Amino acid sequence: MDKPSSDTSVYQLHGQYSLRVISNSSQFLTVQLYSNELLSRTVSLNDNQCFVLSHRLCETTYELYELLIDLLQTLTSSIRVTVDEHLEISFPIHFGSQNHTKLWSFKVIFPSVSSTKTDLFDEASLDPLDWNETRALGHQIMDDMIDYLRDVRLRPTWRPMPTSVKETIANSQLPLKGQPASEVYDEIRSIVLPYALGNIHPHYWGYVHGTGSPIGALAELITGTMNTMSWGGHQASIYLERQVLSWLKVLMGFPNDETSSGVLLSGTSVGTIIAMTVARKKFHGRNMIIYTSKEAHNCVARAANILGITAENLVVIPTNEQRQIDLQALKARIDHNSGSFIVGSAGTVGTCAIDDLQGLADLCASRPNDLWFHVDGAIGAVLRCSIRFRSLLTGLERADSIAFDLHKWLFVPYECGCILVRDGKLHRSAFAQPQASYLALMEGGITPSQGEIFFGDYSLELSRNMKALKVWMTLKTYGVEKLGQIMEQNVEQAKYFGSLIQKNAKEFELLANVTLNIVCFRYIGLPHLHDSDREDTLNKFNKRLLVMIQEHGVAVVSPYSINKNSFALRMCITNHRTKLLDMDRFLEETIKLAHELLDTNDF
Ligand SMILES: Cc1ncc(COP(=O)(O)O)c(C=O)c1O
Repeated sequence: MDKPSSDTSVYQLHGQYSLRVISNSSQFLTVQLYSNELLSRTVSLNDNQCFVLSHRLCETTYELYELLIDLLQTLTSSIRVTVDEHLEISFPIHFGSQNHTKLWSFKVIFPSVSSTKTDLFDEASLDPLDWNETRALGHQIMDDMIDYLRDVRLRPTWRPMPTSVKETIANSQLPLKGQPASEVYDEIRSIVLPYALGNIHPHYWGYVHGTGSPIGALAELITGTMNTMSWGGHQASIYLERQVLSWLKVLMGFPNDETSSGVLLSGTSVGTIIAMTVARKKFHGRNMIIYTSKEAHNCVARAANILGITAENLVVIPTNEQRQIDLQALKARIDHNSGSFIVGSAGTVGTCAIDDLQGLADLCASRPNDLWFHVDGAIGAVLRCSIRFRSLLTGLERADSIAFDLHKWLFVPYECGCILVRDGKLHRSAFAQPQASYLALMEGGITPSQGEIFFGDYSLELSRNMKALKVWMTLKTYGVEKLGQIMEQNVEQAKYFGSLIQKNAKEFELLANVTLNIVCFRYIGLPHLHDSDREDTLNKFNKRLLVMIQEHGVAVVSPYSINKNSFALRMCITNHRTKLLDMDRFLEETIKLAHELLDTNDF
């Protein structure tokens, strides 16, 4: 029979599978297997392959095409997908005067057939010829990663990178030719996996870093696999982000409607730039002054700098005894002729002090056209998950903008932060650009002009990955209540450690009250301290002690300069793996190292 130029037939098989059989003029019969409507496997067969496969029943691709179509129309159950790789085709043949029946069967095995060289595979692609190899490597990586998380406690918190490893990395040439992915992974296993910063370890309490979570890691695999460009458009990623932002508005007590806006981004530093940009838009044509406390994070100064705000327009306000912005001093400094961007901290980086957010909100509400209330909630905004601590953040919900991190105390994998803006229209107007012709919105399709949100219009980035999925999966899997409970647990651990320090008053002292999850302390058990150089000696000793703690893999705490230049070991617990017992162990190990340091006098 003459072959038509192109025929495609689609049939539903059992379960989630469907089959598309394509016969075209290229002399190939293409069989595509769909799973849940996604193409999962495909193979192109030439005449010879059809002949061999069907045990000589079909001599040409078109004969096999016809046979498959016949079976699909009359006997779909004859075609089964087995182990998601084989198409098993079996059908009864009747023969002889006695009408004997025999089952004629054959299998289309996708991987082995697909590795047969045909013209179709001459084109380059990064996809493997044999998906089974990728599957095997993927399973191995998955097993290794789960073990990596499971066994994290058995490893040191941090270990320095040997020179040989650094050299191996530095001497790697630009790869012109590829190599098997399994070899590439083997190398990663030896030069990367052992040398992390350590922030997934239960004894990591440095710099307010987050630990991530098992479900977050799995979410990243899905995100990387989908690799969907999330600037906007008609796609699930955008709807996830819209909903995640709606949850976050509810969590922060923000208006959960279209009047306010938000966007997920890399972290609070970028969120601060966005908030300042929107405020500047509001104060358009007026001078804008930034007011921030001396305890505020330096991302505020950096954002101002980037936006060309001069040093004299960045006003640093002193703090009170609780290390909160001094409201009276702030009021006294406000310049009534300028627009003011007032930053309140919901958890300062040094001691996790929370400013009087209600007081700041009242102040800004008194002159809404002139005063913008921004909250840096990088660390503490998510404390609203905790029923016990939520009231500490009263006033946050009245902010004009809140920048906060989900990769710290909400345990979403890096990077993930959020900015919420009360005036959504203003937010968009500060970033949206006249439509470029290549981004023109259409009457439908993936970029419809109606109904969709384009997050590229709300941030610095046009190209964006899908951050919402890892937030979605983290919140759904663990729930706000459990996350809040872990935050409360971290505060208990910090307070317990603070009490251990006080009990060991001969050897240690606290350098700030422990109000939440941060403990600033130092070792003071040095003999013969003289008043004249006491601070200097203690600073040197504690700097050395901090490095020893890290280098011995005992824990990671970070440096902090407090109370007129005293060097503090700063423990900040944003770690769902930490246990109360770790506090006792850490103190014991620190005492041992301090004694060793005293013996060697090497400071
Ligand atoms: C209080 C505070 N604000 C802002 C930031 C900056 O956040 P990010 O690193 O997510 O940009 C940090 C980071 O530690 C912080 O602690």
